[in-house]
Amino acid sequence: MKTSIFSLFFILICIGLHAEDGHKLWLRAQSTSTVNVECSKQSPIIEIAKIELQNMWQGKAGHTVVLKLAKTKKLQGDGFLLSENQIESNTEAGLLYGAFEMLRKQQTQSSDFNGIFNPSYDLRILNHWDNLDGTIERGYAGQSIFWHPGSEAFKVTQEDKKRWTEYARANASIGINGTVLNNVNASPKILTPEYLNRVREIADILRPYGIQTYLAVNFASPSVIGGLSTSDPLNQEVVAWWKNKVNEIYKLIPDFGGFLVKANSEGQPGPQNFGRTHADGANMMADALKAQGGIVMWRAFVYNPSDEDRAKQAYSEFMPLDGTFSDNVIVQVKNGPIDFQPREPFSPLFGAMKGTGVMPEFQITQEYLGHSVHMVFLATMWEEVLNSDTFQEGKGSTVARCTDGSIFKQKYSAIAGVSNVGSDINWCGHHFAQANWYAFGRLAWDNTLTSEQIADEWVKLTFGKVSNTEDDADFVKAIKELMLDSREAAVDYMMPLGLHHIFAAHHHYGPGPWWAPSGMRKDWTPPYYHRADSLGIGFNRTTSGSNAVSQYHQPLSQQFNDPETCPEKYLLWFHHLPWDYKMKSGRTLWDELCFHYDSGVQKVRGFQKIWDKSESYVDTERFAAVQKKLREQSLNAQEWKDACLLYFQQFNQLPIPYDLERPVNKLEDLIEKDEKQIREGRRN
Ligand code: GCU
Repeated sequence: MKTSIFSLFFILICIGLHAEDGHKLWLRAQSTSTVNVECSKQSPIIEIAKIELQNMWQGKAGHTVVLKLAKTKKLQGDGFLLSENQIESNTEAGLLYGAFEMLRKQQTQSSDFNGIFNPSYDLRILNHWDNLDGTIERGYAGQSIFWHPGSEAFKVTQEDKKRWTEYARANASIGINGTVLNNVNASPKILTPEYLNRVREIADILRPYGIQTYLAVNFASPSVIGGLSTSDPLNQEVVAWWKNKVNEIYKLIPDFGGFLVKANSEGQPGPQNFGRTHADGANMMADALKAQGGIVMWRAFVYNPSDEDRAKQAYSEFMPLDGTFSDNVIVQVKNGPIDFQPREPFSPLFGAMKGTGVMPEFQITQEYLGHSVHMVFLATMWEEVLNSDTFQEGKGSTVARCTDGSIFKQKYSAIAGVSNVGSDINWCGHHFAQANWYAFGRLAWDNTLTSEQIADEWVKLTFGKVSNTEDDADFVKAIKELMLDSREAAVDYMMPLGLHHIFAAHHHYGPGPWWAPSGMRKDWTPPYYHRADSLGIGFNRTTSGSNAVSQYHQPLSQQFNDPETCPEKYLLWFHHLPWDYKMKSGRTLWDELCFHYDSGVQKVRGFQKIWDKSESYVDTERFAAVQKKLREQSLNAQEWKDACLLYFQQFNQLPIPYDLERPVNKLEDLIEKDEKQIREGRRN
């Protein structure tokens, strides 16, 4: 009897060690010894900081850590000063961030323990594209954690509260201090009393973790839910309506952050419906929020079905308004001029709007990068964008420095990431997609961190031992390399050399360079972007074409304008070139394209090998889940390569270089497969 209880216990321990569902994210550590945490002040945030240190402590047993609130000039915002015995900050949230940093350093066995850690951006915000019916636009990890459909809509369950608390804790651990709870395609209903009451409940749970709550609002709210005959921003009744609404919100949520607005974009209402400008609309809302310290994040994601190149439209619309926005408006700009493609040059608005607060918007959810099936570590992409030199104020005017307050003294510096969080037990659908949530937070805190540093931390925290015994260096190295290669692999098998937006249908998942249903807006179809014909391929955005190059500062506009000096990764973004154009490698453009597609496929095969080799280091549950996803990614990569090469080959009739692997799919089968999926409503 004794033996059987013992063996049962042993089996349970083994199962515990060898099955992880990923719910704990990068916060798996359990304390290995005791710590004494002291602070002269008490508050909910400080209490959480203490508990976190106690629960995850990996340092010396019986050590004392002092949390000290200070007024130190060298600390900015929520910055903190860290030493072995003390965390000092000017804010309570800073003490919590310091506690998490201390724990991270212990778990990753980091040697540089002491230092000042100031945040790059004041506001580090997640945007949830969550609809009030519980679905998530471009969400691939289940339903919304905030909103439920039907009769569940206004009930706040213990399960809800638990999930919101875990969510808040995860964000605090990486420095995120704001969240927009609903979709930018905003339902006006969010501003009705029932929903605002639920927002209050959520905000109450997020607050002790240092997180401010924001809402996406619909510009037509005054007429849709307010009973007014117009939503014209210059109409006095409309102005009063927003002021009252803002007051109502602040009564419920005294630290409310403000509004996010998608206006006059993809069918959403906006000030232009009333003959007003974006600035008229944004400033009216900003005025309503100002007294309470709220802000407006006004999105620059605008384009119309006009003759103007879509890549130029946001700049054309917003640049003339530079200098006319209130100081509590921040124009939120997607990283590239089109729409979160696997690779885009940076948006020319960065650095150009010198008299306006500007914030970058990144997409954490992998709308265009394989949803929650493909393993794509996005830190390398964001690093590429942040480090891009705009040259706007001379050399070194990187996107990072143009937006974080280093160059332009905007009142608020901010950055947003479109969240990949859903109700799935592992939060993000793919275990490795958690790394993108993590990376966004870390880069928002410190935009000079390298992808390599972030991957190193994340792998150790996510797959390392839960107590601080040495991690296996070979395993960490191999997985890191895989992650760091993964985005380039996706670019290679999806759309290399500057190709973009060649997805089938609206699902933005599989290949569809052919996809152009009759009657469809041209700028929603791939041929608009790739422009392949018998002579060549690519979008001419040079001075002889759409002239999008002119929106970039010198020397970039000149560099992009000439195919000889344009970086090859952007070649077909800016140029339409003949199939036999000579590339730097000596290959023709067609051969180079084939080479990239093939190399993308080979890279994913390589990822499978690395992962399979790691079996003994990873618990069985997460190992199997990732292995399965990699298999599907590998098949998808092959489909991408075959679909694109076979489709483009129809124009040029050239052979795929014979030393490359042959396609294994037929073009008509791939087209049929995709059409079938659309008919069946899958992947939409
Ligand atoms: C993309 C995406 C939409 C989203 C939009 C936006 O177009 O496909 O689902 O609403 O971006 O950022 O507003």
